[in-house]
Amino acid sequence: MNRFTSARPASATGVASNVEERVQALLARMTLDQKIGQMTQPERLHVTPDEVKRHHIGSVLSGGGSCPGDNRPADWVAMNDAYWAASMEEDADHLAIPVLYGVDAIHGNANVRGATVFPHNIGLGAARDPGLIERIGRVTAREVRAAGVDWTFAPTLAVAQDPRWGRTYESYSEDPGVVGEYAGRIVRGLQEGDGGRLDGGMGRGGGGGDGSGPVRPVVPEGVVACAKHWVGDGGTRNGVDQGDTVVDEAELRRAHVAPYVPALEAGVLTVMVSLSSWNGEQCHAHRYLIEDVLKGEMGFGGFVLSDWNGVDPLADDYGEAAAAAVNAGIDMVMVPERWREFIAGLREQVERGVVPVERIDDAVARILRVKFACGMFERPRPAARRGSNSNGFGSREHREVAREAVRKSLVLLKNEGGVLPLDRGARILVTGPAAHDRGRQCGGFTVEWQGVTGNEAIAGGTSIWEGIRAVAPGAVLWGGGASCDENGAFGNAEDAVRTFDAAVVVVGERPYAEGMGDIREPGPVRPGTNHLPAGPGVLQPYGRTLELAALHPGALRTVRALAERGIPVVTVLVSGRPLVVNAEMAASSAFVAAWLPGSEGAGVADVLFGDHDFVGRLPMVWPGGVVSGRGRAGEVLFPRGYGLRLLGSEV
Ligand code: GLC
Repeated sequence: MNRFTSARPASATGVASNVEERVQALLARMTLDQKIGQMTQPERLHVTPDEVKRHHIGSVLSGGGSCPGDNRPADWVAMNDAYWAASMEEDADHLAIPVLYGVDAIHGNANVRGATVFPHNIGLGAARDPGLIERIGRVTAREVRAAGVDWTFAPTLAVAQDPRWGRTYESYSEDPGVVGEYAGRIVRGLQEGDGGRLDGGMGRGGGGGDGSGPVRPVVPEGVVACAKHWVGDGGTRNGVDQGDTVVDEAELRRAHVAPYVPALEAGVLTVMVSLSSWNGEQCHAHRYLIEDVLKGEMGFGGFVLSDWNGVDPLADDYGEAAAAAVNAGIDMVMVPERWREFIAGLREQVERGVVPVERIDDAVARILRVKFACGMFERPRPAARRGSNSNGFGSREHREVAREAVRKSLVLLKNEGGVLPLDRGARILVTGPAAHDRGRQCGGFTVEWQGVTGNEAIAGGTSIWEGIRAVAPGAVLWGGGASCDENGAFGNAEDAVRTFDAAVVVVGERPYAEGMGDIREPGPVRPGTNHLPAGPGVLQPYGRTLELAALHPGALRTVRALAERGIPVVTVLVSGRPLVVNAEMAASSAFVAAWLPGSEGAGVADVLFGDHDFVGRLPMVWPGGVVSGRGRAGEVLFPRGYGLRLLGSEV
């Protein structure tokens, strides 16, 4: 007996005992238009509820930062209510099939104002705590459902190999073993939420090994998870986003496929394909990787989603591009704006026999299987669901989990003369551009796609400064930016500076997302990459180097200016990845990698003042010089796994 044949009686789950029967019965009633509609995912700004009904749309998404009304949970619930109601309005032309709404809740439901925003994955990888990851998944599921949303495009299972990649922070680690330890736990946390499993048994095995076997109905308490980006997104040459991962198959399986196994075993219901290529072949058209490996060999029984406009670069003719993606095994296509063109083009390709009807039926059956397995046909409209508009959204209980995650994510790289832990009674100067900036703490995919700076947009939570102020009455905040002039002078504050016992200087990167965070020469990545708003093929990377002193020279200036006046400096780095900080570290008495801690910056003070010890360990090699080749530093400053405790021993 395998785990997919143990269908529980309907009474136990509220969902029909045999999902497969329901799938096939509904599929048999569907027209080609209704089937292709189910495979189509527009973005909310480009589709109305009425169009969802008229075109039988199966899913709608919010791109990063695409938020309804005042961007509060109630606004999201109202929007989802409208889409759901339209999708369920059965008539002579339309079958009632509930629409699935998807968002990037990749570190909490961070699009929404007031959400609990967790550290990005790289910090969680430093924490080395799989149990915490599962709890984060459960809290995230609650805050996604509070918005009436059913599906998150998480977890990212990228195994980042080169810190020049703008999405390094979305990776838990450069070690596939660490990513694999987390993969199953985050999927369970997200899909189970607070109740019964939401795994639908779509994972490994599944009937005849092709993943099409009967699916165990589940109690819908979680949200649908999405393992991404299949496959090798973190291994591109020189870390170029959407670039080419040039490795042999053994290395691809070892480094990038491996973490998906525990995700499938945990029953992940959807997988998103990568915009990158493998040895020059686009993953979005890679039948071997999608149909043969993921669905065949690994037995994935859920459905496969394309990424944002992932079909565009596959062919000049849009219909042919759509056919290439669907024939490779993609079941649902994320076509934010060109969804009408997609529907017409795919229909034509089916009618010409380029896309077999059997492939369409398999795709739609997979989508229906997920919707039935999650009990979506039994769920009331979003506004009537338990959990919608929940007062647990952004609650203290949730924020405590996030604050624990911040504490555990911090990595102590230097602590000379025992300057840490800081004395609560000391006169402490706090400065630096990230000292009092909850937006910078959160990084990308927070309220906006590229993230935000400042505190206004991040409702709730604490900045690093607010955490310090709460425990150290003698602490003083100096200017958000550099607290000294370009010559390292403090002007008429020279005397005041010398009255401080220590300084905490919080520096690092501005928020970014995806290719906008790449470190490389500016200019087109490759022709035809036009899915980014920065314009066809041209996007501005973050910078040309990983050296902080070149990216943001104010940091070194401030640290040196204070140190030269005999003030011990604790430098806290807020960044999405390891940076080259040799000079800043040499001038600091203590140096802490804080990654992108999210909304609960007070977690930093918890450790700086010794309430908790450091337990974080580097999830990636820390480079000591120019990063070249496959992301391996010319010289390594600290190895993966390095991290100090307050008393100086290694974690
Ligand atoms: C983006 C990202 C993907 C995200 C999707 C929807 O391009 O590659 O991770 O889930 O679009 O926002």
